[in-house]
Amino acid sequence: MAWVVVLCLGLLLPLGHSKTVHIYVSPKGSDGNSGLDISHPVATLDKARQLLESSGIKDNTVYVELMGGYHNLQSTLHFTHAYSQPVTFRAYQDQEVHVTGGKKIPTNLFTHVTDSSVLNMLPSSSRSKVMQVHLPSAGVTDYGKMTNFGFYRSRTAWLEIFINGEPARLAQYPNEKFLNINSVPGGRHGKVFTYSTHEDSRWVHEKEPWAYGFWYWSWADDAAAISHIDSHKHQITLANDTHYGLRVGHYDPNHLAGYYTQGGYFRVFNMLSELDQPGEYYLDRSNGNLYIWPNTKTGTLDSSDDVTVSLINDCISMDRGVGNINFVGFSLEACRHEGIRGDGLHNINIQNMDIQNLGSYGVHITGSSNIIVSRCNIHSTNGGVAINGGNQKTLTPSGNIIEDNHIWLVARVGAVGYNAVSIGGVGNVVRYNHLHDGQYTGLMWGGNDNIMEYNHIHHMCVNTSDCGAVHAGRDWTARGNVIRYNHIHHVLRHMPGADNRGIMLDDQFSGVHIEHNVFYENQYHVNIGGGRDNIIRYNVFYDATSYPVNVDGRGLRSTSNQATLQNKLKSLPYTSKTWADKYPKLAAIDSHHPMAPMGNQIYDNVFYNARGSSVVQYHTSGIIKREYFDVHDNFKASPADFWSPREYDFRFRCSAETWAKQKSVPEPIDINAVGPRQPTGPKYMQKAIPQRHSTSHPASCSGSIVG
Ligand SMILES: *[C@@H]1O[C@H](CO)[C@@H](O)[C@H](O)[C@H]1NC(C)=O
Repeated sequence: MAWVVVLCLGLLLPLGHSKTVHIYVSPKGSDGNSGLDISHPVATLDKARQLLESSGIKDNTVYVELMGGYHNLQSTLHFTHAYSQPVTFRAYQDQEVHVTGGKKIPTNLFTHVTDSSVLNMLPSSSRSKVMQVHLPSAGVTDYGKMTNFGFYRSRTAWLEIFINGEPARLAQYPNEKFLNINSVPGGRHGKVFTYSTHEDSRWVHEKEPWAYGFWYWSWADDAAAISHIDSHKHQITLANDTHYGLRVGHYDPNHLAGYYTQGGYFRVFNMLSELDQPGEYYLDRSNGNLYIWPNTKTGTLDSSDDVTVSLINDCISMDRGVGNINFVGFSLEACRHEGIRGDGLHNINIQNMDIQNLGSYGVHITGSSNIIVSRCNIHSTNGGVAINGGNQKTLTPSGNIIEDNHIWLVARVGAVGYNAVSIGGVGNVVRYNHLHDGQYTGLMWGGNDNIMEYNHIHHMCVNTSDCGAVHAGRDWTARGNVIRYNHIHHVLRHMPGADNRGIMLDDQFSGVHIEHNVFYENQYHVNIGGGRDNIIRYNVFYDATSYPVNVDGRGLRSTSNQATLQNKLKSLPYTSKTWADKYPKLAAIDSHHPMAPMGNQIYDNVFYNARGSSVVQYHTSGIIKREYFDVHDNFKASPADFWSPREYDFRFRCSAETWAKQKSVPEPIDINAVGPRQPTGPKYMQKAIPQRHSTSHPASCSGSIVG
């Protein structure tokens, strides 16, 4: 009997069960090896990818074990089809693994500058500090091109340089802030402008100078090559038009100008003559000489320093249809374009990665389902995670989840449009992320039924105006979206222009539920820009520098958004049964004054504002109407009504506590309950999650009024 059983198993096994295979990859390995045991690793990730097709490996569960060290990709790691069983690229036993799109430059190739023509160009203070290397001597000849960036452009970087993981930047002037434009002799749409610095006498011998600025609006940045510098007239001529034209600037870091005096400021870069501080570099493309003032502790370079230059465009790319791949526990860095990209994918897991030092987005995956990005560190990129998927016509959810990530400083070169997180489509979930230090928006979304919850979002919009830390606009159809249980704070305005907001519902954006969030120290906490059917309830609004909540009725006064709104509406089956069952108010929009701010509700929130301004600011006249903004049962608190606002502890006390109990309004979300639940990044760089506790003893209860 026994041998019959064995025989049957023998027949069944290859069909029903897959085994688990490990492929080992080491920078010290050889692609001639089998890769199948730890003492015979292959050398490259691409060889491991090819082995996935070989018999004995194909159709099994595979772990591609990346062994410690720097794995420098020779070209984009490119996947062309789905795997039947999960394939996981991971750091072997949590070793420190860097997968890079670059190449290490041996530090012994760097010398001090001796060429007198170069020394004459350099500022005198940097002549003894700047080091140079002839890149072709290190085998590097692809310098990339100087390319445009800013205002939502997907950036492909030129050759960039990273010292011990820290990005260097092209030498610029001024080092901080901007110069104002003094006049625009060729008019708004010309290419000529003047300014008032004498520094420009240094610039006239530059080979490839560029300028970057907020040329017209303080929410739209743009870069352009300079075609001529006239240091007598203090006048620059750009090689191209800028996005919105040019205007005279009034930027003054010590005086925050308003809406009518925004834009018109710039800086110059890619200039050897401005290489004047640690961390700046310049590459002379005509001869391959790279000059850098090393941003190391010693200010120089020795054998312990890692100098990497970026060479390939995307690190990892996946074709339509690719699925069942996991990337776990390693660092992905130094590519000129995106970290992980693809369109039309399914079942991709990106977990505990450190994604940094890229030219564009860390993760950019469109039209895809069941994509999970979790517990990653993403920083020093141009954009964090951008994902969309699901089917809007049928309202089929994507199943995409972005959770427990730490994402910061993701607008490294350029500002606007390099969001920490961007989502679109249907049913994406963004939860438990820590998003901070953004030049512009932290979380931008579109589409339907997305959930954004338990995120910690702060210090966004720091170098721009007319910005929302959480931002969406110009859509009546994007219903079913919920923003709840988040802490959103320190979204202030430091630049001239229009207001910055914690949550910005721009240009008639409609149908959002904003609930159970805690807001503090923002310029405005929330605005409703003329949209409909938004519900704001159970939030704490503490200390706005302007007003807590601002609403307007812009659609009553201007039809400038009407065509966009109507086109979007007509492109979707908003009166179909599926849609009408879910969003009855949208289905009836045509007969309910579509351009009016109908059906917004603001109730059961707790407000406190030291600046004394009221609950809701009505920005346009004639909109204080219940059918537009139904504002009721909000509680006006005093500082004593919270446990310890200074320590982000907004638990209710005193009258607020009594009021909340009466109305069954739940306690505000705890600061320790937002942001990542587990340590982020690869094992070797994980840190414990900080816990905050209120230490101060609350003062006694004082009077508070129900408003
Ligand atoms: C804002 O701009 C300054 C340069 O003016 C830069 O140093 C800083 O990193 C930027 N902030 C963020 C959050 O990117």
